[in-house]
Amino acid sequence: MEFRDVVKRRRMVRHFSTEPVSHDALVRIVDAGSRGPSAGNSQGHDFVIVTEAGTRARIAALCGEQGYVRQGFDPFLSEAPVHIVPCIREATYHERYQESDKVNDDGTEIEWPVPFWVMDGGAAVMLVLLAAVDEGLATAFVGTWELDGLRSELGIPADVTPLGVIALGHAAREKRSV
Ligand SMILES: Cc1cc2nc3c(=O)[nH]c(=O)nc-3n(C[C@H](O)[C@H](O)[C@H](O)COP(=O)(O)O)c2cc1C
Repeated sequence: MEFRDVVKRRRMVRHFSTEPVSHDALVRIVDAGSRGPSAGNSQGHDFVIVTEAGTRARIAALCGEQGYVRQGFDPFLSEAPVHIVPCIREATYHERYQESDKVNDDGTEIEWPVPFWVMDGGAAVMLVLLAAVDEGLATAFVGTWELDGLRSELGIPADVTPLGVIALGHAAREKRSV
């Protein structure tokens, strides 16, 4: 697909069919997400991939799926066959920026103008969303306040922050959109 068409077609889709996502497509999508830029080439982001239905249902609950359903949406999180949880580790950036080519002249770490670990995480998420469109698939990103719940459900270490959840699957006709 032409890049301009990928960009035009990308949108948050909140209803998925039961059709599974092929393993090869999933690998290509996650690979695209790993090719983003990162400050100092720190690469402080990772993806947790979830396909098991019970785990997806618990993640959906942590993201407040019932609230979406009450608003008239389909249960788009639990029905999506794949969840991709993008994660960032701030400490990786501090470790990288304490290396000799990055420290200030006096050996101290830079004053961070903006939290680049969050920016890099956003860039990684965008690549995943666009790569999914290129595969003929659809995504929805949702945030959650239940970061500790996600950590404990997925075995994510305390110093790693899950940014939210990307639901991935084949688009179905939506009852409602925003
Ligand atoms: C950082 C971020 C957080 C978002 N959080 C949610 C969310 O919690 N739930 C949701 O349904 N959509 C969420 N969205 C999706 C936005 O509502 C959506 O991107 C926006 O309305 C534009 O629609 P489009 O992406 O379909 O073009 C989020 C998007 C971003 C970029």
